[in-house]
Amino acid sequence: MKNNRLIIISYRLPFSFKTENRTTSVKPSAGGLVTAVKSLDLSGSSQKPVWIGCADFTQRAWEKNRPLVDNDDFEYVPVFLDRKTNQDFYNGFANSVLWPLFHYFPSYVDYRDEYLRAYQAANQAVCAVVSEVVQPSDIVWVHDYHFLALPQLIRERHPNATIGFFLHIPFPSYELLRLLPVKCRTYLLTGLLGADLVGFHTTDYTIHFLQSVQLALGMQHKMWKVSYQERLVQSNAYPIGINYALFNEAYGDNEVIKERVELKSAYKDQKIIFSVDRLDYTKGVMQRLDALDAFLQEYPEWRGRIVFILVVVPSRDEIQRYWERKQMIEQAVGRINGKYGTLTWLPIMYQYAYLAFPQLIALYTACDVALITPIRDGMNLVAKEFIATRKDQQGVLVLSEMTGAANELGEALLIDPLDEFEVAEQLKLALEMAPEEQTRRMAIMQQRLSSYDVEKWANSFMNDLLQTQEILKKSHPQ
Ligand code: G6P
Repeated sequence: MKNNRLIIISYRLPFSFKTENRTTSVKPSAGGLVTAVKSLDLSGSSQKPVWIGCADFTQRAWEKNRPLVDNDDFEYVPVFLDRKTNQDFYNGFANSVLWPLFHYFPSYVDYRDEYLRAYQAANQAVCAVVSEVVQPSDIVWVHDYHFLALPQLIRERHPNATIGFFLHIPFPSYELLRLLPVKCRTYLLTGLLGADLVGFHTTDYTIHFLQSVQLALGMQHKMWKVSYQERLVQSNAYPIGINYALFNEAYGDNEVIKERVELKSAYKDQKIIFSVDRLDYTKGVMQRLDALDAFLQEYPEWRGRIVFILVVVPSRDEIQRYWERKQMIEQAVGRINGKYGTLTWLPIMYQYAYLAFPQLIALYTACDVALITPIRDGMNLVAKEFIATRKDQQGVLVLSEMTGAANELGEALLIDPLDEFEVAEQLKLALEMAPEEQTRRMAIMQQRLSSYDVEKWANSFMNDLLQTQEILKKSHPQ
């Protein structure tokens, strides 16, 4: 992407400010997107890439603390939404309408016109900021379900802009999308069609998008392309990867080794089953606990010989569906520990907390089984991270077939997350799997993940986006 400046747009900026004892510092976020973007070849451009996102700080705090991020690799442009708009946009339309609907939880959808209006206002506010900074040769890359309408809003103001869009969650079948009012689904789909390239994690999601465009808007697609307003909109699947080297090399970090040794000695008489998820009903934590209950019931010989370390990371806890989920999980943990626990053993160690990176890696590398059972998940990077960390090529992944990652991780023990007895049975097989078989499966999955990592993901999306522009130039020479 010689001479092109990149503009990234995502709901969250890749850092936050933290104030302690009246001193403010910057906390960079460890997200994969930052690594991905940094890995793109931006050497031809004399200008820094720009990152636009919604501020989780005030305008005053920004003016004061801005120098702290001035030397970063990106130029940051925060968008300040008023409190009510942000609430109705983020907690409302994004996370109480689109999130549950796109993850096949239609009964959790709380559709309200005021939420849609806030979503429209937020997308317009971001578009106004984009307009202030965008230059003709820039490449604009919009991320995720918060900004489905944004590509078309930008297109209306900048007809020749190069715009890519990537969706980080599933795109559902049309039968789900049509549960939204006509005006709403039309707005969302035409919003996406403002892009030159629309990317998804899997082929299924891409097909769902193209079918929705056809069924809702009556537009045919050919070779994964839709013709809209005299432009061609390309779509395709780009399964996101992880920073493989970072996770793989962390195995040998001193702090990780220390934490791992501590964990292993604390549980020397037990096999460790581990899971970590953001607090979310899509992650299937309740069903996972039911499966553990079924496992201890069906296979009593394992009582006292396993420990399930369950880490739930706080998320979106202003939304009822989220905070009530926390209560449900905590009740179930208490019930199962009460049912099977003895004076010297508890089956579940539960933590509702953020994990520091070394702790996370220590848990990935100390466990015997990673139990990852979402009911729906666009990709699931925890599964990929677990595989990458296992330099010892030991450990078994039990993975829900309802994750995007299952497409690439066929050597895991794939389960139906809603069938607690099947999960229990596969968990037993995982605990009993011979070390040679563990290595065989790990090696294949590691090979696959290391060859398509987050760098490859970003570069293949970007190459395709640039190609759509080449094609355009050839068909409309200036
Ligand atoms: C998912 C979404 C991301 C989002 C993340 C964390 O992975 O695809 O866009 O940033 O969840 O959720 P949060 O609401 O805390 O940003």
